[in-house]
Amino acid sequence: MKISFQKMALPEKGTVVLGVLAGGKMLPLTRDMDRAVKGLLKQAMADSTFDGGAHETLAVATPRGPVLLYGLGDGKAIDAAWAEKAGGTIYAALAKSGAKVAHVVFEAHKGGEEGVETRAAHLGVAVKLRAYRFDKYRTTLKAKDKPTLAQVNVLVEKYTAARRVFSGLDAVAEGVFMTRDLVSEPPNVLYPDSYAKRCKELTKLGVTVQILGEKEMAKLGMGALLGVGQGSVRESKMVVMRWNGGAKNAKPLAFIGKGVTFDTGGISLKPAGGMEDMKWDMGGSGTVVGLMRALAGRKAKVNVIGAIGLVENMPDGNAQRPGDVVTSMSGQTIEVINTDAEGRLVLADVLHYVNDKYKPAFMIDLATLTGAMMVSLGQVNCGYFANDDALSDKLAAAAKTTGEQVWRMPLGAEYNKQLDSDIADMKNVGPRWGGAITAACFLERFVGETPWIHMDIAGMAWSSKDKPTVPKGGTGWGVRLLNQLVADNYE
Ligand code: BES
Ligand code: MN
Ligand code: ZN
Repeated sequence: MKISFQKMALPEKGTVVLGVLAGGKMLPLTRDMDRAVKGLLKQAMADSTFDGGAHETLAVATPRGPVLLYGLGDGKAIDAAWAEKAGGTIYAALAKSGAKVAHVVFEAHKGGEEGVETRAAHLGVAVKLRAYRFDKYRTTLKAKDKPTLAQVNVLVEKYTAARRVFSGLDAVAEGVFMTRDLVSEPPNVLYPDSYAKRCKELTKLGVTVQILGEKEMAKLGMGALLGVGQGSVRESKMVVMRWNGGAKNAKPLAFIGKGVTFDTGGISLKPAGGMEDMKWDMGGSGTVVGLMRALAGRKAKVNVIGAIGLVENMPDGNAQRPGDVVTSMSGQTIEVINTDAEGRLVLADVLHYVNDKYKPAFMIDLATLTGAMMVSLGQVNCGYFANDDALSDKLAAAAKTTGEQVWRMPLGAEYNKQLDSDIADMKNVGPRWGGAITAACFLERFVGETPWIHMDIAGMAWSSKDKPTVPKGGTGWGVRLLNQLVADNYE
């Protein structure tokens, strides 16, 4: 999908999107078009229920070409988020219309001129985000089922400024796409080794990519992570990505991701129904990789570590058993009660490794960690846990900006002690209730004093329905949010 920005003018021909305010009030260029087609637009409005309500659309065939009227409401609520919803909706309306190119006339209503370039850029990136597809395994798709729309031209007063804003957003969108690609891949294609190789692609953008295998991790004492992977014929890996765009001595920010490329549950085997979803149990790591792609792509002035633990959780003669006791890199021992609570075992070692080796300014981990989190917050808000209020507030503020919603969840001693074990320093599961919280408490035992946030993205990594800027499938959730957190506070 090509997005371009050009001088505002009414195109002579081709598919055009034009704005209409509530009550059917046409913007000036919409009115010009209506005159050019002898009142056809006005007539079409009169013959339909379309009256310019926010995000309503009406397609009208005219001698000048197809017109899509777009409802702006009273025009007062139009901000970047509104423009994104519009961009996604416009793409969906025109994707399979037959048009290859569409011109969106981005005319500010009277009084709404300020920041129009930013809103136009957001509309453009939303088109791009919605147009994402993962078709590489479809060999019989008919032309009719494929989108025709390949270019959207946003016509806006300050088009050079819009281009500038868009280029930053575009780099982040490329990061989102990398995450979606990784999350969408089937688990026979994406496994720890092949995944690590995909991370290597980031070296082209100036990211240092280090891959550790089982031998190296055994040397480091990563018994918790290695225990999860020991039932798989695929070798476990840890990938450490570094982007050094900041001052030489500035402490790095660290993002850590759960990368279980397939989660069968291990010996505590999951039921068959829906098990295929567990290919996206690497979603947390996918967001970390996409974030690194975004930060490097826009040359962020900050030092960042992205570290991901890659394992496949399989039942096997060599798989770990419920009752096993493993020793983590931190030295703390863990009684494995349930081999399906594997994500926390992986993260425990990666968190400790990053904290110990890089002394980061903060650590934020992302993981499709618990079904309990989906039960708590559904697929609307991402639940997160923080040991630091200032960092928590920064995340919440960034979420307000990008529209990726988050909700803080509690930690606490009463929950934490539910992980005490009779034989080891802790067990890997608590009682049934509050399962997302005890999972977070488990991780907290591996972060020391470092400011830390755990984001349980179990409900966010995958969507089974289309949303304005997110087609169904792997969402790439969190890349934009964490990019915003970095941009707002650390550059
Ligand atoms: N990967 C799952 C969590 C999950 C479930 C993510 C559904 C996305 C959708 C995780 O490894 C898991 O199996 N968690 C268990 C923990 C339990 C054994 C304490 C769960 O949530 O049931
Ligand atoms: Mn599991
Ligand atoms: Zn899992």
